[in-house]
Amino acid sequence: MGTIKRMRALHALPLAAAVLLALAAAGSAVLVYSGAYNVGASWQHTQAVYSMLELALHRSVQLRARNIETPLLDDPRRIARGAGIYRDNCVQCHGAPGVAPGDIGKGMQPVPGPLIAAMQRWQPREVYWLTRHGIKMSGMPAWEFRMDDAALWDVVAFVQRLPDLTPNAYAELAGPAPSAAWQGNNRGAQPMPGTASTPATEGNVERGRQALHQYACHACHVIPGVVGSASHVGPPLAGLAGRNLIAGRLANTPQNMRRWLQHPQAVKPLTAMPSMGVTDAHAADMAAYLATLR
Ligand code: HEC
Ligand code: HEC
Repeated sequence: MGTIKRMRALHALPLAAAVLLALAAAGSAVLVYSGAYNVGASWQHTQAVYSMLELALHRSVQLRARNIETPLLDDPRRIARGAGIYRDNCVQCHGAPGVAPGDIGKGMQPVPGPLIAAMQRWQPREVYWLTRHGIKMSGMPAWEFRMDDAALWDVVAFVQRLPDLTPNAYAELAGPAPSAAWQGNNRGAQPMPGTASTPATEGNVERGRQALHQYACHACHVIPGVVGSASHVGPPLAGLAGRNLIAGRLANTPQNMRRWLQHPQAVKPLTAMPSMGVTDAHAADMAAYLATLR
């Protein structure tokens, strides 16, 4: 008796799996056709969708880059050339040590993270592949037709050096930016027009959560309530409300938090956290949200 039951149960397994798969497929079809999934970049992905996309990206690049041979990358001239190429073509989206990304980079989804962390996630040959071919449906351009092979490897050689570069070392290596046209949107600490004049006294928690996302803070921080890859360029912001000091320097008051968010380099000149052009109102909103992270 017992064995027969068990055998029946075993036969039922593939059937159950098939039914589950069919349900999942039907569910996805409904989600897609109904238009229920929000594609606007003002809203975050759900964690499930985000994780699936990240995994697909990783596996796809690993597979395609596996046979690429990496040339020698530690020639200082190569790194210096790469720094110039990076300054002209990559900073506006990815930022650099001491330099925040421009408005275009900050508004993108997925957010183009600082490439300091990329060397932990990717082999040099994979960075080469990503730079050469770009990433579909992400806004990462393919540079294949705009850079020759030597230039592509130059920039990889430079990206490899990013984790060791202080803001000053970067500025020296890359030299001044040639045209402000692309990066002119990178207004440093100046507030965005139209949003400047509201002297926010009290921040709004939910707007703050959205602002953290729209300023791409999650490119460097793990922030509860903001979906992104687990980036540890900066400290995780969970439990921030319970900390005594901000960045080891300022007493953790709402006023000081706003000051830090708007002018981190004025508080701590060598900090790797760039000035992101955060407005008064947005700083107040972000501080309000951060104060809820216990
Ligand atoms: C117009 C904006 C833009 C420009 C310019 C740009 N990128 Fe990107 N980049 C992106 C986006 C968006 C992603 C995708 C981020 C994701 O999927 O998480 C990305 C991803 C990457 C990645 C993978 C990073 C990771 O951590 O997974 C690398 C490497 C990269 N870019 C290199 C470069 C280099 C080198 C340049 C300059 C030659 C450059 N990018 C210029 C937008 C840009
Ligand atoms: C390029 C990476 C980067 C970006 C982008 C960035 N940060 Fe940071 N952040 C850091 C680093 C690195 C530190 C550590 C600073 C230090 O102690 O010098 C830090 C520190 C902090 C701290 C203090 C944390 C603590 O434990 O004391 C807060 C709060 C913070 N960041 C919030 C933000 C917010 C909000 C944004 C978006 C407006 C943002 N950060 C964008 C890198 C970044």
